[in-house]
Amino acid sequence: MSDRPAPAPANRLALRLARPVALIRRVVSGPEIDALAAKTQRLWRSPIRGPWITSVFGSLLLVGIPIMFVTGLLSYVAYDPRLAGNDNTPQHGILGFYLFNWVSSPSWVYRISQGIHVSLGLVLLPIILAKLWSVIPKLFEVPPVRSVAHALERVSLVLLVGGIGLELATGIADIEYFYPWKFDFYDVHFYGAWAFMSGFLIHVWVKFPAMVKALRSRSLRRELSTSLADTRPETSGELVARAPAPATISRRGLIGLVMGASATVFFTTAGETIRSLHGTALLAPRGRRKGRDPNDFEVNITFETSRIDPRVTGARWRLEVEGQRRVKLSRAQLLSMPQTTAELPIACVEGWSTVQTWTGVALVDLARLAGAKVGSDLLAVSLEPPGSPYRSATLAGNQAGNPAALLALKVNGADLSPDHGFPARIIVPGAPGVHCTKWVQQLRFLPS
Ligand code: HEM
Repeated sequence: MSDRPAPAPANRLALRLARPVALIRRVVSGPEIDALAAKTQRLWRSPIRGPWITSVFGSLLLVGIPIMFVTGLLSYVAYDPRLAGNDNTPQHGILGFYLFNWVSSPSWVYRISQGIHVSLGLVLLPIILAKLWSVIPKLFEVPPVRSVAHALERVSLVLLVGGIGLELATGIADIEYFYPWKFDFYDVHFYGAWAFMSGFLIHVWVKFPAMVKALRSRSLRRELSTSLADTRPETSGELVARAPAPATISRRGLIGLVMGASATVFFTTAGETIRSLHGTALLAPRGRRKGRDPNDFEVNITFETSRIDPRVTGARWRLEVEGQRRVKLSRAQLLSMPQTTAELPIACVEGWSTVQTWTGVALVDLARLAGAKVGSDLLAVSLEPPGSPYRSATLAGNQAGNPAALLALKVNGADLSPDHGFPARIIVPGAPGVHCTKWVQQLRFLPS
């Protein structure tokens, strides 16, 4: 039994706190660590790596990433997740603080916001990879942790680098319909976005002053006119190589390469949203339809993949409309009602969109026919078998009450094709494509 008096409670706490610091000290210092640090430093020999080139790519991401986040959050709002059956991430809790009723005009609002989300995400890919290349020495620095503050910064880097990797991987896989994993896209992409953004905000907060200082340390104009032969390493900074190798590419060469890659991605994908670039959209997942036939435009779920029995879309098909009263209508009866024509986009959550001319019965007319209040929320149910994704969707009153919102029977003057939802489909301005229910069998105007 030692005779030393027991340390006072305050000292005991100081002792307990000191332990991890001492532990960190033991891990982060010592001759082996120094030797390993020197060895890893010799791995990174590019003479153009340094705070300036990192800050050039960082400044582009500082603009692009918040736009990605906001357009992603708007995509979630556009689902009107507060309406029954519309929420893909019902556990969102406080992360739903910003939700509001999605708008239904202008009709192109979701087309633009989601087109930006997906196209910008793809265009930023080369810049994100170049940024990661420029900071790779930091990611593998030895010792990995030097202090508690350094440890916190490292944790934010895990959120940042891990988060962007996750967002890019899940986003690109989703638009390519490629799901090599068992987890739910929505959960991971949605919560991953918040985790990533928290790392991003910490990173910007910590690094912004250094980024401004680095950008001011060299003139972009001079760098863009500096040849390979005149390329010299930066003079200071953690990312600068200790033993730089001879330059094989200049900073302007690298910037040109990255911008060229982003421009190539843009011109081979953005055509799925920007019509004038349709011809060059070689990498667009939904392909480039020539539009010779009135129904010849992009489609996601075809009639064949919908697993609907073709017999139920024939002459015996009846639309059920429910409000104060329930009415059943044949296609002929619907065609004999006043027809409304509207030029409206189909804007898919995957970023592609197409504008076509739709003709059919205005939803407000069907609401009146069923004795429902115009502007009531509307549940639309399709003929797809139960369990099919997006078999039903609830439209908010401002969408169903929009005079241009239709139960479409025709497109570009011709009957809808089975792929586009024959016998009838919903087409609503400003809504994500998944809420424009195809092969409709029931419309229920919900009491408000
Ligand atoms: C190449 C990169 C990306 C692609 C292709 C992509 C693609 C998509 C797609 C297709 C959706 C809609 C999913 C659906 O409703 O079915 C979506 C939603 C979303 N994205 Fe991305 N995304 C990318 C990067 C990002 C990044 C970097 C962030 C965050 C900064 C982000 C945040 C979100 C959010 C918050 C949503 C809403 C999720 C929800 O509705 O539950 N995305 N993204």
